Amino acid sequence: MHPRLSALAALRLTDPEEKVAATHAAAALTTTADALATHPIRTAGDEAGVPGRPERPLRVAAHTQGKRSPFTPEGRAALIHSICHIEFNAINLALDAVWRFDGMPDAFYRDWLHVADEEALHFTLLHTHLQSMGYRYGDFIGHDGLWAMCEKTGGDVLARMALVPRTLEARGLDATPLIQAKLRRVNTPDALRAVEILDRILADEVGHVAIGNHWYRWLCEREGRDPVASYPVLVAHYEAPRMKPPFNLEARARAGFSDEELSALAKASG
Ligand SMILES: [Fe+2]
Ligand SMILES: [Fe+2]
Repeated sequence: MHPRLSALAALRLTDPEEKVAATHAAAALTTTADALATHPIRTAGDEAGVPGRPERPLRVAAHTQGKRSPFTPEGRAALIHSICHIEFNAINLALDAVWRFDGMPDAFYRDWLHVADEEALHFTLLHTHLQSMGYRYGDFIGHDGLWAMCEKTGGDVLARMALVPRTLEARGLDATPLIQAKLRRVNTPDALRAVEILDRILADEVGHVAIGNHWYRWLCEREGRDPVASYPVLVAHYEAPRMKPPFNLEARARAGFSDEELSALAKASG
């Protein structure tokens, strides 16, 4: 099967373990596929069943989940579950980028299949850990913000790159060290294992944001737009969450944000 159609098939799967396996298989196809960008693959009716999600977790709008203390086992499980949920959505959003946008260069599809592959690994690492704590994916509620932004930007690949990888995923770069510091203070074996998993995730996520930055700039250039000036316009148009300090400047610099962009972000967030 064409790797982009394999990505669509994986995107539609509702069972998390099946989605993970199908995502790894779709990513593996890129090593043998000649060219992914040769012809449009989208046809009418493709949207049916996108994205595949299990019945649980129950999906709720952002800001409805009360904060639980990571100093209780249940609070830590809820925290790991919330990151697990982000990774599940991240698999879907990477697969969606592969399938949805015709007419991009070969490297675009390869990049996003690579991201999907890593998101599937992140989900597995966290879900395995969650199960070792006596819980499963679906035992708590899940926020819907990540997929909601995917949907809003479904008709505009430039906005998708601007607002999903280099906004929402980039917020993960800022948030992860704060979560890790909290877990280090908890200092139980399960909390320290979570810190290790988050180290791996943070290292990979720098690459995902870098891929977002690369394609955002590439699309800006193609459309003759200025990437720094266009960003706040897109944030306003799509009602994206604004970047809020503290920023993980070191990780953001490695992910390809320039000093000019970082200070523009800080300014745009007031
Ligand atoms: Fe991830
Ligand atoms: Fe990611």
